[in-house]
Amino acid sequence: MLLFQMRMYQEFSFYWSAVSCWLLVEFTAAFEVTTPQSEVVAVHGRAAVLGCRYTPSQSQSLDGLVVTWQTVVGLQVVHSFYYGRDQLERQRASYRNRTALFRSELPSGNASLRLVDVRPEDAGRYLCSVSSLQGTGKAEVQLKFAAFYTEPRLTVQVHSTNVSFWYESEGYPEPEVRWVDPTGQNLSHHTEVSASEGGDGLFSLRTRLDLDHSLGVNYTFTLKNQLINQVIERPVFFSHVGSGHHSKCPRDRLTILGPIFCAVFLWICTAVLVKRHWSKS
Ligand SMILES: *[C@@H]1O[C@H](CO)[C@@H](O)[C@H](O)[C@H]1NC(C)=O
Ligand SMILES: *[C@@H]1O[C@H](CO)[C@@H](O)[C@H](O)[C@H]1NC(C)=O
Ligand SMILES: *[C@@H]1O[C@H](CO)[C@@H](O)[C@H](O)[C@H]1NC(C)=O
Ligand SMILES: *[C@@H]1O[C@H](CO)[C@@H](O)[C@H](O)[C@H]1NC(C)=O
Ligand SMILES: *[C@@H]1O[C@H](CO)[C@@H](O)[C@H](O)[C@H]1NC(C)=O
Repeated sequence: MLLFQMRMYQEFSFYWSAVSCWLLVEFTAAFEVTTPQSEVVAVHGRAAVLGCRYTPSQSQSLDGLVVTWQTVVGLQVVHSFYYGRDQLERQRASYRNRTALFRSELPSGNASLRLVDVRPEDAGRYLCSVSSLQGTGKAEVQLKFAAFYTEPRLTVQVHSTNVSFWYESEGYPEPEVRWVDPTGQNLSHHTEVSASEGGDGLFSLRTRLDLDHSLGVNYTFTLKNQLINQVIERPVFFSHVGSGHHSKCPRDRLTILGPIFCAVFLWICTAVLVKRHWSKS
C-alpha cells in the first residue's frame, strides 16, 4: 500500500514537473506572428488595413525588429522596416507611396500594413514576417478586391413584337443579377460579364430582359455584389403603348389623309384617261 502511494506520488510529481517545464518554455520563449483576419476585403480606390500582430518584448523596444510585408507569389517587397525605420529601397514600384505601418503601435506588437488607393492588381496573398530578439515568425493574409457597381444605365429598345430592357454597370467581382416580376418570380434574362473596356481591371455587366409587347411591365432589376453587401434595386415600369392611343394615331392620320389620297388618285386617273382620249383622236 505504502509502495503504491509512493509510486503514485513519484508519477504525479514527474508529470507536474513536465507540465510546469512546458509552461515555462511556452511563456518565455513563445514568439508568435498572427493575422487576426485571414481575408480582408479591399475596395477600389480606398484604403485597406492588412492586420498582423507579433509578440512584443517586455521593453517594447524596436531594437532588432524587422518587419517585412511581401506578396506570397514572387515574394515582392511591399513594405519593410528595420534599423528602427522604413526601408523602401527594394519596395516594388507599384506599391510606392501607398504603404505605411502604424508607427505608434508597432512597439506594442501591431505590424499591420495600411495600403491606400487599392487597385485590382493588389488582390492576392500577403506575407507578414517579423523577427525580433525574441524570435521570428510569419503569417499570411489574403486581400480580396472589390469595386462598387456604378449606377446602372438603362436602355429600352422597342421592336415590332417585343421590348428589350438593358442595364449596364461596372464593378467587381461578378455580381448576382435577378429580374423579378411583381409576384416574386425570377424571369429569364441574358446576362454577360466581361472585362471592362477601360482596361481598369473591372467587370462590365450587360443584362437584357426581353418581353412580349402585350405584357404590361412592372418588374424589378436587382444587382448584388455579395463581397461588399452592395444591392442595387431598380423598378422598371413600362405601359403597353400598342393598345393605347399610339395605335389610334395611324388610323387618325388615315382618316385625314385618306380623302386627299383618293382625290389625288382620281385626278391622276382622270388626267390619264383624258390624255389617252386626246392622243387617240
Ligand atoms: C493596428 O493599429 C491600427 C491603428 O490603430 C488599427 O486600425 C489596427 O486594427 C491594429 N491592428 C491590430 C492587428 O492590432
Ligand atoms: C511618391 O511621392 C513622391 C513625393 O511626394 C513623388 O515625388 C513620387 O513621384 C511619388 N511616386 C509615385 C510612384 O507616385
Ligand atoms: C424582338 O424583336 C426583334 C425585331 O423584331 C427581333 O430581332 C428579336 O429577335 C426579338 N426578340 C425576342 C426575344 O423575341
Ligand atoms: C409594381 O410592383 C411593386 C411590387 O412588386 C408595387 O409595390 C408597385 O406599386 C407596383 N407599381 C405599379 C405602378 O404597378
Ligand atoms: C431567384 O433566383 C435567386 C438567385 O438567382 C434565388 O436566390 C431565389 O431563390 C430565386 N427565387 C425564386 C422565387 O425562384
